[in-house]
Amino acid sequence: MSEGAVKKEEKPRKFQAIRGTRDLLPPETALWNRVEQTAHEVFATFGFGEIRVPIFESTDLFARSIGAETDVVSKEMYTFGGFAEFSAKVGEGRMEGMLSEMSPEEMISLRPEATASVCRAYIEHNMQQLPQPVKLYYMGPMFRRERPQKGRYRQFYQIGAEVLGGSDAPAIDAEVIEMVMTFFDRLGLQGVQLDINSIGDRNCRPQYVELLRAALLKVKDKLGPDSQRRIETNPLRVLDSKLESEQAIIATLPRIADHLCEDCATHYAAVKHQLEIRGVIYRENWRLVRGLDYYMRTTFEITAKGLGSQNAVCGGGRYDGLVELLGGPPTKGIGFAIGEDRLILSLQESGKGAISADRDVYIAWMGERAHATAIRAAKDLRKAGFSVELPPVEQKFGKALGQADKLGAKYALILGDNEVSEGLWTLKTLADGSQVKYTEPDLLEYLRKQRAL
Ligand code: HAM
Repeated sequence: MSEGAVKKEEKPRKFQAIRGTRDLLPPETALWNRVEQTAHEVFATFGFGEIRVPIFESTDLFARSIGAETDVVSKEMYTFGGFAEFSAKVGEGRMEGMLSEMSPEEMISLRPEATASVCRAYIEHNMQQLPQPVKLYYMGPMFRRERPQKGRYRQFYQIGAEVLGGSDAPAIDAEVIEMVMTFFDRLGLQGVQLDINSIGDRNCRPQYVELLRAALLKVKDKLGPDSQRRIETNPLRVLDSKLESEQAIIATLPRIADHLCEDCATHYAAVKHQLEIRGVIYRENWRLVRGLDYYMRTTFEITAKGLGSQNAVCGGGRYDGLVELLGGPPTKGIGFAIGEDRLILSLQESGKGAISADRDVYIAWMGERAHATAIRAAKDLRKAGFSVELPPVEQKFGKALGQADKLGAKYALILGDNEVSEGLWTLKTLADGSQVKYTEPDLLEYLRKQRAL
């Protein structure tokens, strides 16, 4: 027997979605659509326009913006060689060692977030020439190689927004936050908690970081290995620690609010005032530092009910200077990204994720003539916006009604020879079993009225 034949007899491999990725299926996808539709609507009322940026970009763009030392860039990006380079080298039979030979500019990565891309696009399309500020939002998949768990995936979805322009007016910070809160409110998200902080700027943060480092060195022995390492690499991240044993120590550390320069302190006070005018309820959290390097001044995070340890449903902050760092004009920026997977989870866990993906009408038809009428009826009902299930082959009425029930249809439209020759169609309301005969126009009229109730 040839090798090929042996292979044929083997059981075919059963493929599964890659770890950390998943399929989103109906009826849940209807909830995703509702959430996304609500974002389009709410964000438009705040004057935001949608931007769609590529799924992959130069690795260097992310390294420069998010920071080469951050977890996201140093550990979690899906990175590979640029395509032109790749095919050229494959052609030469030099696949091996290819990645290590490439310079950072030649590498590309799946986007772990989209702020960097939006800033790149702002520069590339000279958006500083548009009326300022430019207000953009986006939604779509992001990729981070994290350890998967509930609410944490390797392909996850964000809905985000960015405001870019010449002004860093505190009212901009407050309005961006107000917009997310309005969105969450519209969706009925439960247990929403907004935390805010200011992490200072280039003038005051370095001094605070040194102060923090010095304080941390004094208690180094009492800290876990991660925090010990961070004393050197990024002392601010120690404040993020969730380790039970470190909490009491962290509570004694110097707080950035006491070390902000005058400009940052004034800005922070004004942001809080602006939130109050808008009726946005917040909690100050001096330990909120965020894990990406581009932030300065305002940072914020929103948590919601039912999410366990991965309870941050939105994170954001100000990033003045990022556009400049990427070679663009001096520009102020602030934005946020919502974890859509977590948002959906929270809505579902608190019973706010109910969606009716049920059919309006199931057409139970029998006989060739009735089939032709059923096809026309389906066309007219669909045109009027009703969701219609039209079985492709004839079924006994009993079976058809059973199917209609299983699909959660509200009505069964019964079309047999009698109905077709009389021109009177039977509509059965499945909830109570009642049956009424209608002419075709009356039936449409009745269904329209019922829908409007
Ligand atoms: P981030 O905090 O890294 O910020 O992510 C924002 C949100 O995305 C998180 O709060 C979380 O809900 C969700 N998220 C992050 N990683 C995962 C994951 N592995 N699985 C599921 N959900 C996840 C940013 O990405 C910034 N670009 C936000 C921003 C925009 N700042 C200014 N403008």
